[in-house]
Amino acid sequence: MKKIWNNDLNKEYLEKEVTVYGWVSRLRNLGGVIFVDLKDRSGLVQLVFRPDTKVYEKAETLKNEYCLKVTGQVALREKANPNLATGEIEINVLKLDILSKSRELPFEIKDDTNALEDTRLKYRYLDLRRNYLQTKLITRHKIMMAIRNFLDKEDFVEVETPILCKSTPEGARDYLVPSRINKGAFYALPQSPQLFKQLLMVGGMEKYFQIARCFRDEDLRADRQPEFTQVDLEMSFVNEDDVMALTEKLVAYIFKTVKNIDLKLPLMKMTYNEAMAKYGSDKPDLRFAIPIIDLEYLFKDTNIEFMKNNLAQGKIINGLILKNKAAKYSRKEIDKLTEFVKNYQVGGLAYLKYEDELTGSISKLLTDEEKNSIIKSLELEKNDLVFIVSDNYKQTKEALGALRLKLAKENDLINKDDYKLLWVTDFPAFEWSEEEQRFTAMHHPFTSPKDEDIDKLLNDKANCYSKAYDIVINGYEAGGGSIRIHDEEVQEKMFAALELTEEDIKEKFGFFVEALKYGTPPHGGLALGLDRLTMLLTNTDNIRDVIAFPKTASASDLMSNCPSQVDKKQLVDLGLKID
Ligand code: AMO
Repeated sequence: MKKIWNNDLNKEYLEKEVTVYGWVSRLRNLGGVIFVDLKDRSGLVQLVFRPDTKVYEKAETLKNEYCLKVTGQVALREKANPNLATGEIEINVLKLDILSKSRELPFEIKDDTNALEDTRLKYRYLDLRRNYLQTKLITRHKIMMAIRNFLDKEDFVEVETPILCKSTPEGARDYLVPSRINKGAFYALPQSPQLFKQLLMVGGMEKYFQIARCFRDEDLRADRQPEFTQVDLEMSFVNEDDVMALTEKLVAYIFKTVKNIDLKLPLMKMTYNEAMAKYGSDKPDLRFAIPIIDLEYLFKDTNIEFMKNNLAQGKIINGLILKNKAAKYSRKEIDKLTEFVKNYQVGGLAYLKYEDELTGSISKLLTDEEKNSIIKSLELEKNDLVFIVSDNYKQTKEALGALRLKLAKENDLINKDDYKLLWVTDFPAFEWSEEEQRFTAMHHPFTSPKDEDIDKLLNDKANCYSKAYDIVINGYEAGGGSIRIHDEEVQEKMFAALELTEEDIKEKFGFFVEALKYGTPPHGGLALGLDRLTMLLTNTDNIRDVIAFPKTASASDLMSNCPSQVDKKQLVDLGLKID
């Protein structure tokens, strides 16, 4: 068995004979002496093969990624390499076993690779040999260990819940699994263990957690995978503050253990409405300022036609100030930004530049008095740039929220080593779905409305708020949860509010409503996205970097070619026919 990691070798081993195992990472032949960087999970160590040794001839046949067992004597290097943990020593090789040869590689395995991601995904096992990915998987492991240690000490019990189960509506499409024994019937893969963890509370577990695999058939983005992992928690006899306090303690413990970062607790809290008003997002990135500001008061008596009309229709006028960057943005640049905001269904983007005077798309339409008032009220300084959007509330906020992020990225205003965490609270219970032309649950149908809003469930959905909270880190929704409905009548009202028919309720949730009838404790919880948390703690914005065997944006695994066709016989067994 391998007994020593490469990285453990240092001057203490001088003159000693050691046996190391690993892969050839780099080969150099310098004036007859062959140098090999041998890599293992821990790092690199330099092997030296001299022409006068027995192993030399074999060493000449080595190629990158050959797998070796090597015995040799540790010696001091002539010139130390300060960039390497083992940089002071090298191994003069006495014995060389080539355990396994490697064919020509489909791409060069090195950290700053520019090989196509598709190629690397096809040969994921080779890509995994890169330190870049290995360190991320190791950090992921450390996070999981920290979570288990912390929650165990807090009296949580880890319980596994089924993977083959009944569909739980969490907003995405289910992955379905046909049943062979019950032809025509399907299991769903869990979008989350939501109902099971609530049932565990009914079952008296009181404090549950699970590092749980979840499956959602939804459109993928850089921070979404069809199968992903949640750190799922549930507790009985708690309110929102209890769940948030426990969670932030857990998150602080993870940050300390894994990154030695001290988070300041309690974390800041911001209501959903405030987050939308100020940052145009329910997951605001607070690593930079540039809040959205209300500009209506400056244009109350405006003669600018589109603004006048918009205000008359109840639309809003909001803006952003980008300090000291006016000169950087040409007309062409601003045209690009205009196209960008139009993706958010707003009419356009107006702007004002303050250089020697106020110029910009709407400056000619302003009186001198208005100009002065704008400069004074917004405390503009030379070279400041003001962006203005006027449209419906939601669209205006979202457009400016996205523009705010884009400007911060374009102007390098985000310190990549910074972490800004906050809670977003008091979410609306419902959101209007244009597609379905009805209100849908903003979190999920088991989220408790605020006590004072229970009556609004059926008759004032737009103003009904819930006991839900999200933890946001650097503009990512790192987790979300809520206090649940534990009263069967309220739960039924909620289903009715979501326009589920009696039949639907009975068929989909009958077992769950039934469970609520037997002394259900008040309970609540949350789920952290483990993949996202790992992304944040390993400074990557590609979720595939933190998952050993991820899927592509089109939900396929390029390595095993999955999903794939199956045998006709398998379909027959399942009673399925493909058109
Ligand atoms: P929610 O749907 O908000 O809540 O999910 C919780 C967290 O899981 C992460 N997440 C994802 N990560 C990667 N890929 C995805 N496709 C994906 N979808 C979600 C996010 C998110 O914040 N049952 C509730 C939790 C609860 O109420 O306790 C739930 O699943 O980080």
